[in-house]
Amino acid sequence: MLENFESISPTAIVTSYPRTFTDIPYEKTIYEWLCTNCNEKVNLNKMLAPEIEARYKLTNKLLELTKINQVLEIAAGYSSRGIIYSKKDYRYVEMDLEGVVKNKNELLKELNLNNENLHVINGSALNYEDFNKSNQYFRKDKELAIINEGLLRYLTFDEKKIVATNIYKMLKEYNGIWITCDVTPKKFIKSQNNVNPELNSNLNDVTSRNDLKDRFEDFNHIKKFMKEIGFSNVEIHKFSEVKDDIKSFDILNIDKEQYDELLENAIVAIITI
Ligand SMILES: C[S@@+](CC[C@H](N)C(=O)[O-])C[C@H]1O[C@@H](n2cnc3c(N)ncnc32)[C@H](O)[C@@H]1O
Repeated sequence: MLENFESISPTAIVTSYPRTFTDIPYEKTIYEWLCTNCNEKVNLNKMLAPEIEARYKLTNKLLELTKINQVLEIAAGYSSRGIIYSKKDYRYVEMDLEGVVKNKNELLKELNLNNENLHVINGSALNYEDFNKSNQYFRKDKELAIINEGLLRYLTFDEKKIVATNIYKMLKEYNGIWITCDVTPKKFIKSQNNVNPELNSNLNDVTSRNDLKDRFEDFNHIKKFMKEIGFSNVEIHKFSEVKDDIKSFDILNIDKEQYDELLENAIVAIITI
């Protein structure tokens, strides 16, 4: 059961590419580095940009509202978030699997994007020992935010339970919160297929782990799942909250209205212990 997670790693390029069609800093430079230095061949889709941009910006907005300034981002991939927030004096730790972490640390070094507040460590979200590796970078007397974008959807419910339990245990130590878009329920896939028909079939070619049966049914299912782990509350925010901040609509000359349903159905949740 606990295997084959490296097959998810190429999806980090699938999500890095559309961010180049946004105003998010560093994304073009990061993606250019990946093109020059990685041989992975994956199907790329720029029409994913509004969705990826919305989840990135909504996550940032919610993080900033919490006023918490130490972050563990799991499955961080090639995202620029850690670079940006560590420059704003956040203590920031990214955790991902070995291949991605090796690339990320190389690109940070070569592009001169390192700083003393940013640490990119190798670990699996399914292994609590790996979470412990980040403790050395955080202050125990301060709250911690755990963030993840684009991991749980690829995991079975048994695997999601292991990750959620690890996050719960970690947050218990810091009295923090979990911010994630990864609990978006099934009906979102229908909206995604409406605006982007090839996306999910292409993703199936990138990773075998993209199965509809591994999606939450609806909000009640998310809340029940989280309550069973021990979390006390799940607060839902829709991507549409940041509709006005999405620059890729204009950059790609996309008709915004066709994304309305998708932005209503996709969510970021704030989950509290
Ligand atoms: C779709 S990508 C998302 C990357 C990034 N969050 C983004 O939005 O661009 C999924 C990421 O999950 C990572 N991943 C897969 N299994 C993992 C695990 N067990 N523990 C930590 N990261 C994992 C992959 O290596 C990959 O970077």
